[in-house]
Amino acid sequence: MAQGDTELEARLEEQDEFEPSEEFVAQANVSDAGIYDEFEENWPECWERAADLLDWDEEYDEVLDDSNPPFYEWFTGGELNACHNCVDRHVENGDKNRVAIKWEGEHGETRTYTYQDLYREVNEFAAALRDLGVEEDDVVTLYMPMVPELPIAMLACARIGAPHNVVFAGFSAEALATRMNAADSRFLVTCDGYYRRGDPLDHLDKTNEGLDSVDHGVDATVVVDRLGDDGFGHDLKGNQHDWDELLDEQRGERVDPVERDAEDMLFLMYTSGTTGQPKGVKHTTGGYLSYATWTSHAVLDIEKEDTYWCSADIGWITGHSYIVYGPLALGSTTVMYEGTPDFPNRDRMWDIVEKYAVDVFYTAPTAIRAFMKWGSKYPESRDLSSLRLLGTVGEPINPRAWKWYYEHIGNENCPVVDTWWQTETGGMMITTLPGVKNMKPGSAGPPLPGIDAQIVDTNGDEVEPGRAGYLTVNKPWPGMLRTLYKNDERYISEYWEEYSDTDSDDPDDWVYFPEDGAKVDDDGYITVLGRVDDVINVSGHRLGTMEIESAIVGVEGVAEAAVVGGNHEVKGEAVYAYVITEDGYEEGEDLRARIIEGVEDAIGPIARPEQVVFTPELPKTRSGKIMRRLLEDVANGAELGNTSTLRNPDIVEQIEAKVHAQSD
Ligand code: PRX
Repeated sequence: MAQGDTELEARLEEQDEFEPSEEFVAQANVSDAGIYDEFEENWPECWERAADLLDWDEEYDEVLDDSNPPFYEWFTGGELNACHNCVDRHVENGDKNRVAIKWEGEHGETRTYTYQDLYREVNEFAAALRDLGVEEDDVVTLYMPMVPELPIAMLACARIGAPHNVVFAGFSAEALATRMNAADSRFLVTCDGYYRRGDPLDHLDKTNEGLDSVDHGVDATVVVDRLGDDGFGHDLKGNQHDWDELLDEQRGERVDPVERDAEDMLFLMYTSGTTGQPKGVKHTTGGYLSYATWTSHAVLDIEKEDTYWCSADIGWITGHSYIVYGPLALGSTTVMYEGTPDFPNRDRMWDIVEKYAVDVFYTAPTAIRAFMKWGSKYPESRDLSSLRLLGTVGEPINPRAWKWYYEHIGNENCPVVDTWWQTETGGMMITTLPGVKNMKPGSAGPPLPGIDAQIVDTNGDEVEPGRAGYLTVNKPWPGMLRTLYKNDERYISEYWEEYSDTDSDDPDDWVYFPEDGAKVDDDGYITVLGRVDDVINVSGHRLGTMEIESAIVGVEGVAEAAVVGGNHEVKGEAVYAYVITEDGYEEGEDLRARIIEGVEDAIGPIARPEQVVFTPELPKTRSGKIMRRLLEDVANGAELGNTSTLRNPDIVEQIEAKVHAQSD
């Protein structure tokens, strides 16, 4: 490392507050500090500012209907179409030749879609879906990797008013079936396969296996041919259709965008919760789209001239809001990359930034920590001077990783927004407005204008700055989930019951609980500490420990299992599984391999346990409750908390010794 670099590192290490450059502020979409007061004084009408970023077919009557909390309705009476907002209006406004999607495959092949191209293909696919029998409000499941056909299918669904239900392609066959069953979805769009680290992966085989477990059967499946000659030679079954053939049949077809009520469902997205059953988060057309668009404009500072890249997968909410809906509604160019960040080399991300002159880049702390580990020579070998703003999402970012990102990717010129939000919130909630606020590494920032968040104790009383407590949100916001699909009761019990007076009709008595721990400083900056429920966050992906446990106990030879998250240098958290074997079964490599396979089959490789620790017992309280906190301490090599309340205190030391032996 050069002398200058060392000095720079030392200076950055000490600095705990960073100002955006004057140059950035001068051009920022939002740079007036008065916006916070303006939103507070004019709440909820302030949200018209978000709705104004969209075209409405029918003006709304009311910004917020809060007469039946927590079933809030936004922009009531309004009508609009999300696809029209993301595609048609740009074509009509003279931007038909502007690039909408820049796609790059893992092997380096590229595809470019102008807004006109997108318009044509979305229309043709919408017509194809209709011909296959998809009607308004039918849920269409999209089980697809990062290929352009995924956003095209999402927009085609939105065009005809059919909510989409995207299932992450890395999820297993069983996870696909669970989500299709839960959503009563009879239509599926998938693909033959995709590339990972240079090799083709068979996706259709996994899809077919999942389809066998869809209880209600499936009316039609559409298969994208991604692999061409590298494909696995599957024949399509009777109700399976080839994407390209369908489009050929529909060449030149146009489908009028359906006018959707603002409160009509735009999509469903399943996410992990505390029970084994994933939760179907329902997002709406008016509120969600306004919110995703507004935050893309105000926080990511996207302008239509920008080339913007979010490296998430569209299979997660980040990709929905900030690869597809937000950037396309703003008419910008959104970059999609199919593969892994280190294929063929560790400079792949920076190669893409350089090639497309990316202006705004949004990624996850887990990726930043991996880049940091690989070393700064990779970004230094590329021209990253096009970058104007950087963002992170998905998990807490440690100040060291933040500063590395700021220095080595942003060249100390780009604000870094650390954005806290959730699948349920639809869009960013807590982060700095980059044209207004200073940044503090490690802290997401203050709540965005119009967002009312507090840190409270178990009684719901506000805690002092600096003390850890629970994050709560006290006012509704347009991007919020409306309910859990067909399960209003669980919606209330998961998110509202903890801190609300559930008998009250007064919205002031209703408080949203995101199930995160947090603390606030004297300037109102919030540091999110992590989940306080049984959900772990692996590489920014949310996994329910119960889901993993039920996969493990389903493996022959396993009597009981407890899963917790342990700290991991790159992934943030990793899965630790503590397993008791059934009598007559041997602990060892065979069972370990079957457990890992069981988890991969039930959920997918992302949930793969980092460590499987066999133990004769689990630490339990006298009432028989597993003490997970202790198991976490063991996973983290931390000092053990109080074990005196345990029925079997000795077991903890035995487990600890095993974990140490395995990690050595
Ligand atoms: O614990 C918080 C963490 O990720 C959870 C939400 O996960 P998911 O619904 O999968 O959405 C991820 C992408 C929005 C939150 O409850 N989280 C997300 N962003 C941050 C974060 N934790 C700390 N800092 C963040 N910036």
